[in-house]
Amino acid sequence: MTAISFTARNIRDVVSAKTHCAILPVFHKAKLTGAALQLDRASDGSIRSALALGDFAGNPGETLLLPGTGGAKRILLIGCGDPNKFDRKSARNVSKQLHDALCSTKATDSILHLGLLKLKERDACWLLSYLARFLTTASYRYTETLSSPKKAMKLSKLIVNASKELPVPTASSALRDGHAMGLGVNEARNLANLPGNICTPTHLARHARKLARNAKKLSVSVLEEKKMREMGMGALLSVSAGSDQPAKLIVMHYEGGKSKDRPHVLVGKGITFDSGGISLKPGAKMDEMKFDMGGAASVFGTLRAAIEMNLPLNVVGIVAAAENMPSGRATKPGDVVTSMAGKTIEVLNTDAEGRLVLCDALAYAARYKPDTVIDIATLTGACVVALGSHASALYANNDSLADDLLEAGIETYDRAWRMPLWEEYNAQLKSNFADLANIGGPGGGSITAACFLGAFTKKYRWAHLDIAGSAWNSAPKGATGRPVPLLTRFLMDKAGRER
Ligand code: BES
Ligand code: MN
Ligand code: ZN
Repeated sequence: MTAISFTARNIRDVVSAKTHCAILPVFHKAKLTGAALQLDRASDGSIRSALALGDFAGNPGETLLLPGTGGAKRILLIGCGDPNKFDRKSARNVSKQLHDALCSTKATDSILHLGLLKLKERDACWLLSYLARFLTTASYRYTETLSSPKKAMKLSKLIVNASKELPVPTASSALRDGHAMGLGVNEARNLANLPGNICTPTHLARHARKLARNAKKLSVSVLEEKKMREMGMGALLSVSAGSDQPAKLIVMHYEGGKSKDRPHVLVGKGITFDSGGISLKPGAKMDEMKFDMGGAASVFGTLRAAIEMNLPLNVVGIVAAAENMPSGRATKPGDVVTSMAGKTIEVLNTDAEGRLVLCDALAYAARYKPDTVIDIATLTGACVVALGSHASALYANNDSLADDLLEAGIETYDRAWRMPLWEEYNAQLKSNFADLANIGGPGGGSITAACFLGAFTKKYRWAHLDIAGSAWNSAPKGATGRPVPLLTRFLMDKAGRER
């Protein structure tokens, strides 16, 4: 995988600046100014003549690669459309065009001349941080189990020529944050893409320790099954009962804040493979249930981003890791188990295992006197039916927490959509033989799963993200790293990081 570095500089002599590719964002019908004008003059009017010939008009989606001049080996024009209509969608398109055009070359470094864009500071910041994140995630390749990994973009260095609107320090920090978020996303994708025979609960625990070795502010402790049994985590242990892989409760402390600051707790569903257990799933697409630790992966990824950004706040990441398998020791439909919170649960369907591991992890989270608790889980197929892949489902017992998360999702284009937690839904979870049933019948499956969790989260401000539709793509198959951008932005906001 190519690692890309991003830097912002003031380049005085645009023409003689050495680069494999000078990138010029050009608005439709705009007069050539600044860097574009200088490179045009130095190249005997090559840019002007491309415009005059109609080969390039600055429309959105247009790119044109020209021979270089002076220190620049190539000139890349990127169409930005109408300057009055340039919005975040345009900025995302520019990032994609820029990436695709660079991919068609062998350029390993480039200079982006930002001055031509004349965006307001906030918009320019957003563009830069999105661009850095986009290029970082676009250069991710899964390599772990391939003998000849697919090739990525050659680019390893992007220099941004800062502008009056966006001076070097501001541009640098936007690039740094975007890059960090991208690294967090890649971290999550890489873990989630690993096959279930490699990425076991034990592997996740080892990975947590590895992460902590490279980060002073991160410490890790792992609760083994014996300890979990002593603590009464009968729900979590009922899921791993049928597996030869022992469950792990992985606790990661990121201490970037003051010791008295209440932490934000992230709880991830870490089912490293979900066969359904005795309520065995049908065969089609069952391989995708290796992604059932996508919530856990996003906890790792968000912590990675927090570490990279050195965020000044405290975060506790809890990963409830287990494998859901059928065997002679597996939990059976009708079995009743006792959770750490003391509530008994009738396991009517062993395939509704996510809520079983989460309810014990959520009860455990209370000990950290959290500011907020957010769990992230590929929890229900019903969520995919309701929202498809564009939005994660958001549930919360606190409106301002919900609003903060929705806003963080919009800001990062990693959106969530709020769903109801009305008490009427609880009736669907009634059981004749236990305090709760683990399934709520055919209607509102994502909602009743959230209601189940809601019975264990009354002591603190809590939100739940059902990422069953957003955590991975089926074609081409691969983890998305969502909702790392949303969660990271949420933490950045809590840490007072400016946008
Ligand atoms: N991990 C699945 C949810 C899932 C299914 C996510 C398909 C993405 C795609 C979860 O453990 C599960 O099996 N849920 C059941 C719940 C049901 C038995 C109440 C489901 O959604 O079918
Ligand atoms: Mn399941
Ligand atoms: Zn599952």
